[in-house]
Amino acid sequence: MQADAALARALPAVSQPPVELHRAMHYAVMAGGKRMRPLLVYATGTTFGAPLERLDAAAVAVEIIHAYSLVHDDLPAMDDDALRRGMPTCHVEFGEAMAILAGDALQALAFEVLANDTVAGIDSRTRLDMLRVLGHACGSHGMAGGQAFDLSAVGQSLTANELERMHVHKTGALIRASVRLGALAAGCTEPATLEALEHYAHCVGLAFQIRDDILDVEGSTERIGKTAGKDAVQDKPTYPAILGLQASAAHLDELTEQALRSIEPLGDAALALRDLARFIAERDS
Ligand code: IPE
Ligand code: IPE
Ligand code: MG
Ligand code: MG
Ligand code: MG
Repeated sequence: MQADAALARALPAVSQPPVELHRAMHYAVMAGGKRMRPLLVYATGTTFGAPLERLDAAAVAVEIIHAYSLVHDDLPAMDDDALRRGMPTCHVEFGEAMAILAGDALQALAFEVLANDTVAGIDSRTRLDMLRVLGHACGSHGMAGGQAFDLSAVGQSLTANELERMHVHKTGALIRASVRLGALAAGCTEPATLEALEHYAHCVGLAFQIRDDILDVEGSTERIGKTAGKDAVQDKPTYPAILGLQASAAHLDELTEQALRSIEPLGDAALALRDLARFIAERDS
Protein backbone atom coordinates (compact mmCIF):
# COMPACT_ATOMS: atom_id res chain seq x y z
CA MET A 1 0.00 0.00 0.00
CA GLN A 2 1.16 3.56 -0.79
CA ALA A 3 1.13 4.62 2.88
CA ASP A 4 3.09 1.61 4.14
CA ALA A 5 5.91 2.13 1.67
CA ALA A 6 6.09 5.83 2.47
CA LEU A 7 6.03 5.12 6.22
CA ALA A 8 8.83 2.57 5.93
CA ARG A 9 10.96 5.14 4.08
CA ALA A 10 10.32 7.82 6.70
CA LEU A 11 11.28 5.80 9.79
CA PRO A 12 14.89 5.67 11.00
CA ALA A 13 16.63 2.34 10.34
CA VAL A 14 16.35 -0.06 13.26
CA SER A 15 20.04 -0.86 12.94
CA GLN A 16 20.86 2.76 13.86
CA PRO A 17 21.45 3.60 17.54
CA PRO A 18 19.55 3.99 19.75
CA VAL A 19 18.41 0.63 18.43
CA GLU A 20 15.81 -0.08 21.10
CA LEU A 21 14.08 3.28 20.55
CA HIS A 22 14.06 2.80 16.79
CA ARG A 23 12.67 -0.72 17.21
CA ALA A 24 9.88 0.63 19.41
CA MET A 25 9.08 3.33 16.83
CA HIS A 26 8.89 0.73 14.04
CA TYR A 27 6.76 -1.53 16.18
CA ALA A 28 4.28 1.27 16.87
CA VAL A 29 3.98 2.33 13.23
CA MET A 30 4.48 -0.77 11.11
CA ALA A 31 2.38 -3.33 13.01
CA GLY A 32 -0.70 -2.89 10.83
CA GLY A 33 -3.72 -0.71 11.40
CA LYS A 34 -6.30 0.46 8.94
CA ARG A 35 -4.28 3.51 7.78
CA MET A 36 -7.52 5.47 7.81
CA ARG A 37 -5.88 8.88 8.14
CA PRO A 38 -3.46 8.38 5.21
CA LEU A 39 -6.40 7.06 3.17
CA LEU A 40 -8.26 10.30 3.91
CA VAL A 41 -5.23 12.38 2.86
CA TYR A 42 -4.93 10.46 -0.43
CA ALA A 43 -8.69 10.47 -1.08
CA THR A 44 -8.90 14.24 -0.53
CA GLY A 45 -5.79 15.06 -2.55
CA THR A 46 -6.70 12.87 -5.51
CA THR A 47 -10.20 14.42 -5.58
CA PHE A 48 -8.36 17.55 -6.77
CA GLY A 49 -5.98 15.71 -9.08
CA ALA A 50 -2.85 15.62 -6.92
CA PRO A 51 -0.42 12.77 -7.67
CA LEU A 52 0.05 10.32 -4.79
CA GLU A 53 3.72 11.27 -4.30
CA ARG A 54 2.70 14.83 -3.49
CA LEU A 55 0.46 13.49 -0.71
CA ASP A 56 2.92 11.01 0.82
CA ALA A 57 4.50 13.35 3.38
CA ALA A 58 1.13 14.49 4.76
CA ALA A 59 -0.14 10.91 4.85
CA VAL A 60 2.98 9.77 6.70
CA ALA A 61 2.91 12.69 9.13
CA VAL A 62 -0.70 12.14 10.26
CA GLU A 63 -0.25 8.38 10.60
CA ILE A 64 2.92 8.82 12.65
CA ILE A 65 1.10 11.24 14.97
CA HIS A 66 -1.75 8.73 15.21
CA ALA A 67 0.69 5.90 16.05
CA TYR A 68 2.29 8.03 18.77
CA SER A 69 -1.15 8.87 20.19
CA LEU A 70 -1.98 5.17 20.43
CA VAL A 71 1.29 4.35 22.22
CA HIS A 72 0.61 7.00 24.84
CA ASP A 73 -3.14 6.20 24.99
CA ASP A 74 -2.28 2.60 25.93
CA LEU A 75 0.13 3.50 28.75
CA PRO A 76 -0.75 2.45 32.32
CA ALA A 77 -1.25 6.12 33.25
CA MET A 78 -3.88 6.44 30.52
CA ASP A 79 -6.02 3.51 29.29
CA ASP A 80 -3.65 0.81 30.55
CA ASP A 81 -4.15 -1.52 27.59
CA ALA A 82 -2.11 -4.64 26.87
CA LEU A 83 -3.31 -5.38 23.33
CA ARG A 84 -3.16 -3.21 20.21
CA ARG A 85 -3.60 -4.33 16.59
CA GLY A 86 -3.65 -7.91 17.87
CA MET A 87 -0.22 -7.62 19.49
CA PRO A 88 1.21 -6.60 22.87
CA THR A 89 1.11 -2.81 23.27
CA CYS A 90 4.35 -0.87 22.84
CA HIS A 91 4.98 -0.48 26.60
CA VAL A 92 4.30 -4.19 27.22
CA GLU A 93 6.84 -5.08 24.54
CA PHE A 94 9.49 -2.41 25.21
CA GLY A 95 8.78 -1.07 28.71
CA GLU A 96 7.07 2.14 29.73
CA ALA A 97 10.06 4.46 29.45
CA MET A 98 10.86 3.35 25.91
CA ALA A 99 7.18 3.62 24.90
CA ILE A 100 7.04 7.21 26.19
CA LEU A 101 10.21 8.04 24.25
CA ALA A 102 8.95 6.31 21.11
CA GLY A 103 5.82 8.49 21.28
CA ASP A 104 7.92 11.63 21.80
CA ALA A 105 10.24 10.78 18.92
CA LEU A 106 7.37 9.88 16.59
CA GLN A 107 5.69 13.19 17.25
CA ALA A 108 8.88 15.05 16.36
CA LEU A 109 9.45 12.88 13.29
CA ALA A 110 6.02 13.74 11.88
CA PHE A 111 6.91 17.45 11.74
CA GLU A 112 10.36 16.70 10.36
CA VAL A 113 8.86 14.64 7.54
CA LEU A 114 6.45 17.42 6.61
CA ALA A 115 9.13 20.13 6.79
CA ASN A 116 11.71 18.11 4.83
CA ASP A 117 9.47 17.05 1.98
CA THR A 118 11.08 18.68 -1.03
CA VAL A 119 10.05 16.21 -3.73
CA ALA A 120 6.44 17.21 -3.52
CA GLY A 121 6.57 20.55 -5.30
CA ILE A 122 4.59 22.28 -2.59
CA ASP A 123 5.60 25.92 -2.01
CA SER A 124 7.05 26.91 1.37
CA ARG A 125 4.06 29.04 2.35
CA THR A 126 1.73 26.07 1.87
CA ARG A 127 4.16 23.83 3.72
CA LEU A 128 4.12 26.24 6.65
CA ASP A 129 0.31 26.13 6.63
CA MET A 130 0.48 22.34 6.68
CA LEU A 131 2.82 22.37 9.68
CA ARG A 132 0.45 24.76 11.44
CA VAL A 133 -2.56 22.54 10.73
CA LEU A 134 -0.78 19.47 12.08
CA GLY A 135 0.49 21.29 15.18
CA HIS A 136 -2.97 22.56 16.02
CA ALA A 137 -4.51 19.11 15.47
CA CYS A 138 -2.24 17.33 17.92
CA GLY A 139 -1.95 19.96 20.64
CA SER A 140 -4.09 21.04 23.57
CA HIS A 141 -6.80 22.37 21.22
CA GLY A 142 -6.75 19.06 19.34
CA MET A 143 -5.94 15.43 20.11
CA ALA A 144 -3.98 15.97 23.36
CA GLY A 145 -6.74 18.27 24.61
CA GLY A 146 -9.33 15.61 23.79
CA GLN A 147 -7.33 13.01 25.68
CA ALA A 148 -7.32 15.37 28.69
CA PHE A 149 -11.12 15.73 28.43
CA ASP A 150 -11.34 11.93 28.24
CA LEU A 151 -9.22 11.32 31.34
CA SER A 152 -10.94 13.95 33.43
CA ALA A 153 -14.36 12.58 32.46
CA VAL A 154 -13.80 9.07 33.85
CA GLY A 155 -16.52 8.34 36.39
CA GLN A 156 -18.30 11.64 35.61
CA SER A 157 -21.65 11.93 33.87
CA LEU A 158 -21.13 14.00 30.71
CA THR A 159 -23.81 15.82 28.78
CA ALA A 160 -24.20 14.95 25.08
CA ASN A 161 -22.44 18.24 24.21
CA GLU A 162 -19.46 17.48 26.46
CA LEU A 163 -19.21 13.99 25.01
CA GLU A 164 -19.21 15.38 21.47
CA ARG A 165 -16.57 17.97 22.37
CA MET A 166 -14.32 15.22 23.76
CA HIS A 167 -14.64 13.04 20.64
CA VAL A 168 -14.30 15.97 18.23
CA HIS A 169 -10.98 16.75 19.91
CA LYS A 170 -9.40 13.39 20.71
CA THR A 171 -10.17 11.71 17.38
CA GLY A 172 -11.86 14.28 15.17
CA ALA A 173 -8.96 16.74 15.20
CA LEU A 174 -6.51 14.41 13.47
CA ILE A 175 -9.13 13.26 10.99
CA ARG A 176 -10.01 16.85 10.11
CA ALA A 177 -6.28 17.56 9.74
CA SER A 178 -5.95 14.62 7.32
CA VAL A 179 -8.57 16.14 5.03
CA ARG A 180 -7.15 19.66 5.39
CA LEU A 181 -3.63 18.49 4.63
CA GLY A 182 -4.79 16.57 1.56
CA ALA A 183 -6.56 19.69 0.28
CA LEU A 184 -3.56 21.94 1.01
CA ALA A 185 -1.11 19.58 -0.68
CA ALA A 186 -3.38 19.42 -3.72
CA GLY A 187 -3.60 23.22 -3.91
CA CYS A 188 -7.35 23.35 -3.32
CA THR A 189 -8.22 26.92 -2.24
CA GLU A 190 -11.84 27.41 -3.30
CA PRO A 191 -13.68 28.57 -0.11
CA ALA A 192 -16.97 26.72 -0.77
CA THR A 193 -15.09 23.49 -1.47
CA LEU A 194 -12.96 23.86 1.64
CA GLU A 195 -16.11 24.44 3.67
CA ALA A 196 -17.72 21.31 2.25
CA LEU A 197 -14.60 19.29 3.08
CA GLU A 198 -14.51 20.75 6.56
CA HIS A 199 -18.06 19.64 7.25
CA TYR A 200 -17.38 16.21 5.77
CA ALA A 201 -14.29 15.79 7.98
CA HIS A 202 -16.10 16.97 11.09
CA CYS A 203 -18.83 14.37 10.52
CA VAL A 204 -16.58 11.42 9.68
CA GLY A 205 -14.21 12.30 12.54
CA LEU A 206 -16.99 12.12 15.08
CA ALA A 207 -18.50 9.08 13.36
CA PHE A 208 -15.15 7.30 13.54
CA GLN A 209 -14.95 7.55 17.34
CA ILE A 210 -18.63 6.65 17.80
CA ARG A 211 -17.99 3.49 15.78
CA ASP A 212 -14.90 2.82 17.92
CA ASP A 213 -17.05 3.14 21.06
CA ILE A 214 -19.71 0.81 19.61
CA LEU A 215 -17.09 -1.77 18.59
CA ASP A 216 -15.73 -1.79 22.14
CA VAL A 217 -19.19 -3.05 23.19
CA GLU A 218 -20.19 -5.19 20.20
CA GLY A 219 -16.86 -6.29 18.75
CA SER A 220 -14.71 -9.25 19.69
CA THR A 221 -11.16 -8.86 21.00
CA GLU A 222 -9.95 -11.01 18.12
CA ARG A 223 -11.63 -8.86 15.48
CA ILE A 224 -10.79 -5.40 16.87
CA GLY A 225 -7.26 -6.38 17.93
CA LYS A 226 -7.68 -4.70 21.33
CA THR A 227 -9.37 -5.87 24.52
CA ALA A 228 -13.12 -5.58 23.97
CA GLY A 229 -15.35 -4.27 26.76
CA LYS A 230 -12.61 -2.16 28.35
CA ASP A 231 -14.52 1.13 28.18
CA ALA A 232 -17.29 -0.10 30.48
CA VAL A 233 -14.81 -1.69 32.89
CA GLN A 234 -12.92 1.61 33.13
CA ASP A 235 -16.12 3.65 33.28
CA LYS A 236 -15.11 5.60 30.16
CA PRO A 237 -17.42 8.26 28.82
CA THR A 238 -18.54 6.77 25.49
CA TYR A 239 -21.54 7.19 23.18
CA PRO A 240 -23.05 3.78 24.08
CA ALA A 241 -22.54 4.48 27.81
CA ILE A 242 -24.23 7.86 27.66
CA LEU A 243 -26.78 7.60 24.82
CA GLY A 244 -27.21 3.81 24.60
CA LEU A 245 -26.29 1.56 21.66
CA GLN A 246 -29.36 2.24 19.55
CA ALA A 247 -29.17 6.03 19.74
CA SER A 248 -25.40 5.87 19.12
CA ALA A 249 -25.93 3.84 15.95
CA ALA A 250 -28.65 6.22 14.79
CA HIS A 251 -26.37 9.22 15.37
CA LEU A 252 -23.58 7.48 13.47
CA ASP A 253 -25.92 6.98 10.49
CA GLU A 254 -27.05 10.60 10.60
CA LEU A 255 -23.44 11.85 10.64
CA THR A 256 -22.58 9.61 7.69
CA GLU A 257 -25.55 10.95 5.73
CA GLN A 258 -24.45 14.51 6.52
CA ALA A 259 -20.89 13.74 5.44
CA LEU A 260 -22.11 12.30 2.14
CA ARG A 261 -24.45 15.24 1.53
CA SER A 262 -21.73 17.79 2.15
CA ILE A 263 -19.48 16.43 -0.62
CA GLU A 264 -22.28 15.92 -3.16
CA PRO A 265 -21.26 19.10 -5.03
CA LEU A 266 -17.81 17.57 -5.68
CA GLY A 267 -19.39 14.93 -7.92
CA ASP A 268 -17.67 11.77 -9.16
CA ALA A 269 -14.17 13.04 -8.30
CA ALA A 270 -14.99 12.52 -4.61
CA LEU A 271 -15.85 8.83 -4.96
CA ALA A 272 -13.00 7.74 -2.66
CA LEU A 273 -14.16 10.17 0.05
CA ARG A 274 -17.68 8.74 -0.21
CA ASP A 275 -16.37 5.17 0.09
CA LEU A 276 -14.35 6.11 3.18
CA ALA A 277 -17.36 7.73 4.90
CA ARG A 278 -19.35 4.52 4.38
CA PHE A 279 -16.45 2.35 5.50
CA ILE A 280 -16.01 4.38 8.70
CA ALA A 281 -19.66 3.82 9.62
CA GLU A 282 -19.73 0.12 8.78
CA ARG A 283 -16.27 -1.11 9.73
CA ASP A 284 -16.05 -4.02 12.17
CA SER A 285 -12.40 -3.63 13.16
C1 IPE B 1 -8.02 3.81 17.18
O1 IPE B 1 -7.78 4.27 15.90
C2 IPE B 1 -8.07 4.95 18.13
C3 IPE B 1 -9.08 5.95 17.79
C4 IPE B 1 -8.77 7.18 17.56
C5 IPE B 1 -10.48 5.58 17.76
P1 IPE B 1 -7.86 3.31 14.64
O2 IPE B 1 -9.10 2.48 14.71
O3 IPE B 1 -7.66 4.14 13.42
O4 IPE B 1 -6.61 2.37 14.86
P2 IPE B 1 -5.72 1.59 13.79
O5 IPE B 1 -4.72 2.58 13.29
O6 IPE B 1 -6.61 1.09 12.68
O7 IPE B 1 -5.10 0.48 14.58
C1 IPE C 1 -8.19 7.07 21.56
O1 IPE C 1 -9.46 6.77 21.94
C2 IPE C 1 -8.06 8.37 20.93
C3 IPE C 1 -6.66 8.72 20.74
C4 IPE C 1 -6.32 9.95 20.59
C5 IPE C 1 -5.59 7.73 20.70
P1 IPE C 1 -9.64 5.32 22.57
O2 IPE C 1 -8.92 5.23 23.85
O3 IPE C 1 -11.08 4.98 22.53
O4 IPE C 1 -8.88 4.43 21.47
P2 IPE C 1 -8.68 2.85 21.60
O5 IPE C 1 -10.06 2.27 21.74
O6 IPE C 1 -7.79 2.62 22.76
O7 IPE C 1 -8.07 2.49 20.28
MG1 MG D 1 -8.27 6.51 25.33
MG1 MG E 1 -7.64 3.60 24.49
MG1 MG F 1 -11.85 3.04 22.05
